[in-house]
Amino acid sequence: MTVTIKVRQNGPYLVDGEDIKVVDWNGHEYPITKTPFALCRCGHSNKRPFCDGSHRACAFEASEAAPLPAESTLRVTE
Ligand code: FES
Repeated sequence: MTVTIKVRQNGPYLVDGEDIKVVDWNGHEYPITKTPFALCRCGHSNKRPFCDGSHRACAFEASEAAPLPAESTLRVTE
């Protein structure tokens, strides 16, 4: 079972996979009705922890990309 969380540029975390649970601090589950689904990263959603598209209206900016692997770990193909 692989779960992928994709960090969208200036947007939410897009979560995809099977058997995913989103729980609150008490361990209570939020209903997941479909996959993939988006988790709010901007803090402006009215459906938190899920994204409702409000990041567009608030012009959310968070475009950090994952760092590239160190050169020594890159495979060279010819
Ligand atoms: S990231 Fe979409 S509403 Fe917050």
